[in-house]
Order: sequence, then structure tokens, then C-alpha cells
Amino acid sequence: MRDYSQPILAGRGATDYGRYMRVDDLLALQRHPSEMVHRDELLFQVVHQVTELWLKLACYDAAEAVDQMRAGDPALAEMLLARAARVISLITDELDMLRRLAPADFQLIRTVLGNGSGFESPGWRRVQRTSRDLGNVFADLLARRDVKLVDLYRGSPTQPLYRLAEALLDWDERISSWRVQHYQIATRTIGHNVVGTKGTPVDALAKLISHHFFPALWQVRTELTETGPMAWDDSASCQR
Ligand code: HEM
Repeated sequence: MRDYSQPILAGRGATDYGRYMRVDDLLALQRHPSEMVHRDELLFQVVHQVTELWLKLACYDAAEAVDQMRAGDPALAEMLLARAARVISLITDELDMLRRLAPADFQLIRTVLGNGSGFESPGWRRVQRTSRDLGNVFADLLARRDVKLVDLYRGSPTQPLYRLAEALLDWDERISSWRVQHYQIATRTIGHNVVGTKGTPVDALAKLISHHFFPALWQVRTELTETGPMAWDDSASCQR
């Protein structure tokens, strides 16, 4: 009879779960209570660390989506990018935890952050780089297939290229939604007309909300509105 009670994997930890998940290392990454200036440092650190982990996954998937676009497989690229975009929503929801951080307590926590700021987040830097790649590679894909964006959007929404364009738009929109929530959290925590730990005026965050990584995908909506409706295509509607 096989003994399931003992760990069989190599590595540190009392169980195979602990060894595979590297739980000891993971749980040692937060400041010990004896080092803390306030107990909500744990809340603050966990929200940031979890964000970095999710963004690691999101950008890993999004980078693979870039490769799949280069390889000419928009359907697989769409699947990966849709999953990556879901991550952005998760980290947006998670920001809500910081609404439970009292502004006066954050003033104490702020004293131990040095000049550290979200601008230095490796996850968010990777989001910027990957988004630029996504935009360029998608434009190349359209050019290679000789497809105009406006024609794509007049066609069936079930086409793989159309689905991919929508996944890109979701990615862009969800990043904006994260920025809306982040701006709200920042201002309800430290107020208006003040600067962050990197010296940036908090209100400058509001300007970032309207930033689009894929402006052409937003512009095509405007173009459709300006050109008006087209005749209803029954054969296309069946596919919908
Ligand atoms: C109480 C919570 C928070 C406050 C008060 C806050 C405040 C700020 C401020 C004032 C800035 C401007 C730069 C500076 O001078 O520091 C900033 C930027 C930034 N923060 Fe936060 N932040 C908070 C939570 C978070 C979390 C949880 C993340 C997730 C990693 C994050 C990521 C960022 C990013 C990526 C930027 C660069 C601007 C952007 O790309 O939108 N922040 N934050």
C-alpha cells in the first residue's frame, strides 16, 4: 500500500505542497511584525506583492500572445490575451483592500517606503513594454493580411482577428479601469495637491487614465460612428 503521508519531492518544507509551492520562501517575503512601524504594513505589502505575481502571469501570457500573433495564430493569441486581461480585473478588485487602510496609519507606513513608488513596479513596467509589443505586432498582422481595421469591424464579430482586436481593447480598457481605481485609492489615502513618494503630484495620476495603448482600436469606433450604419447582412448575423 502506497504511503501518501510523506513528502516525496526534493526541496525545503515539511510537505510536498510546501516544497512545490515554495511556501516557506513565499511567506518569508513580508516584514516581520517586529520590524513594522504599523501592523497594516502587512496589508500594504501583500496587496503590492500579489499584484506583482499576477502581473508576472499576465505579461507571461501576453508575451506568448505576441509570439502567437507573429506565428499567425490569432485565435490562440486571443485566448491567452483574454486570460491576461482577466488578471488586470483581478488586481483592480484587489485594490479595494486598500480602502481599509486608514489615511493616518498610511502616513506612518509612508515613513518606511523610502523613495519607492509604483513607478518602479517591475510588473507595471513589463505591462508597458508588452503593450507596446502587442500594438506593433497586431498592426503588422493586419498589414500582412491586408486587412483594414474599419473593414474588420464591419465584418463578423466571430472572426479570429476580430476576437483578437476585442481582447486587445479589453486589455487596454482594464488597464484604464485599474488606473481609475488606483487614482481614487491614492487620493482618498493621501489627498489632493500633494506629491507621492517619488515626488509626482497625485493629481498627475488622473491624466494617465485616458492613456490608450492601442489608439487605433478606439479610433475605429469613432470612424464607424462618423460613417453611420451599413445594411444589415443576414448571412453575417447567422454567424453571430
Ligand atoms: C495606499 C495605496 C497607494 C497610494 C497612496 C499610491 C500613490 C501613488 C502615487 C502618489 C503615485 C505617483 C508617483 C509617486 O510620486 O509616488 C503612484 C504611482 C503608481 N502606483 Fe501607486 N499608490 C498606492 C497603491 C498602489 C498599488 C497597490 C500599486 C500596485 C503595484 C500601485 C502602483 C502604482 C503605479 C504602477 C504607479 C505609476 C503610475 C501609473 O502607471 O498609473 N500603487 N501611486
